Amino acid sequence: YGDVFKYYADGEWKKSSSGQSVAIINPTTRKPQYKVQACTKEEVNKAMERAKFAQKSWARTPLWKRGELLHKAAAILKEHKSPIGECLVKEIAKPAKDAFTEVVRSGDLVSYCAEEGVRILGDGKLLVSDSFPGNDRSKYCLTSKIPLGVVLAIPPYNYPVNLAVSKIAPALIAGNSLVLKPPTQGAVSCLHMVHCFHLAGFPKGLISCITGKGSQIGDFLTTHPDVDCISFTGGDTGIAIAKKAGMIPLQMELGGKDACIILEDADLNLVAENIIKGGFSYSGQRCTAVKVIFAMESIADALVEKVNARVAKLTVGPPEKNCDITPVVSEASANFIEGLIMDAKDKGAKFCQEHKREGNLIWPLLLDHVTPDMRIAREEPFGPVVPVIRIKSIEEGIHHCNSSKYGLQGCVFTKDINKAMLISDAMETGTVQINSAPARGPDHFPFQGFKDSGIGSQGITNSINMMTKTKSTVINLP
Ligand code: G3P
Repeated sequence: YGDVFKYYADGEWKKSSSGQSVAIINPTTRKPQYKVQACTKEEVNKAMERAKFAQKSWARTPLWKRGELLHKAAAILKEHKSPIGECLVKEIAKPAKDAFTEVVRSGDLVSYCAEEGVRILGDGKLLVSDSFPGNDRSKYCLTSKIPLGVVLAIPPYNYPVNLAVSKIAPALIAGNSLVLKPPTQGAVSCLHMVHCFHLAGFPKGLISCITGKGSQIGDFLTTHPDVDCISFTGGDTGIAIAKKAGMIPLQMELGGKDACIILEDADLNLVAENIIKGGFSYSGQRCTAVKVIFAMESIADALVEKVNARVAKLTVGPPEKNCDITPVVSEASANFIEGLIMDAKDKGAKFCQEHKREGNLIWPLLLDHVTPDMRIAREEPFGPVVPVIRIKSIEEGIHHCNSSKYGLQGCVFTKDINKAMLISDAMETGTVQINSAPARGPDHFPFQGFKDSGIGSQGITNSINMMTKTKSTVINLP
């Protein structure tokens, strides 16, 4: 790797004229690992101009050819699993096995998108006028889906590759061009992923990857007049972006406080497995992590015991060693998580494990007897700490779940499918999982947040549709 990674625009790797760089701090060593270019506003303008230009001929490129190029990029991406996975380990401290899985999942997503795209977009519609009162059969309306133009993609640090391609692939198959602004942590993984698209041979200017500080070019990008659609995944910044964006389609996936409601008849071994997977994988740094447990009082002790037995088996340490719990992304994040833990301590939560922290590494922690006044009951830690709130009725669990400002996913554990369906209907979240922890995938499933968790629906099919607009041509017979 070179000293400062170049950014990608107009089919070339470039140095920024700013002469400045942004350092990426390795969360494990807490030392600078890589540097990327700090792009200027002029460079953003240039990339937008090129994207606008390249999109016109891309939209006219046959759909099957667009699909073919995406299949090629997917294959190259999978071939580059190791170097990209290694970057993810260094940049975001993702456990090695999960880092490699992220790249493979991304390749699969790109291929699926190509296949789905040729079918969805190859399917137009013909309407006839005589179904509406007062009309005879003299009008034939042909509708098709056409691209929006330039799509701005802003993925988050926790899945810099996967949540980038989940925006890039639908945008491209639908005939859009793409400007990618990677997160700082994860920028090099993103650049490497873009290199795979470069190798696949996409036209110049169609894809660009602009690195730099969000504080310097973020607003400029998101309010740029050439942007026709924004697909953003991240934190509350998304709300500010949505307020400032013009009259363009937005796809936003922001935070979550995914609740897990556990009924008296639940299989507690299954629940405990899912709390470990849902609450602690990638150290809780997932939008869809289990972030609060509402357990019926009668089974809470038994459940906590089962979860504790599994927490004790989690390995804690560096991502290179494939530990279950690895350092969280930044010192600021670790401090925030610790603040939530201390607040819970002051307000009387029961600590099931000792709270331990070394640098950005926070040991997994289950907090029992949490009450709604504690910050951890409402706020999103994005770390390996899971609160348990004991409930006396199902209604109480639903009430707590729905009083959150978030509404991403939730889950319910019970053997009674009738109750599960009623609870699912009552939960104000984009998805409810019955007898499993929340999760976005499989990646063609719809994925959406209600309330402050976002707008629009993702998942491959929904994203392709969202990145198009309907065009009608009406043939009028004499
Ligand atoms: O933005 C969604 C992401 O944080 C969670 O994705 O696949 O871990 O459920 P996943």
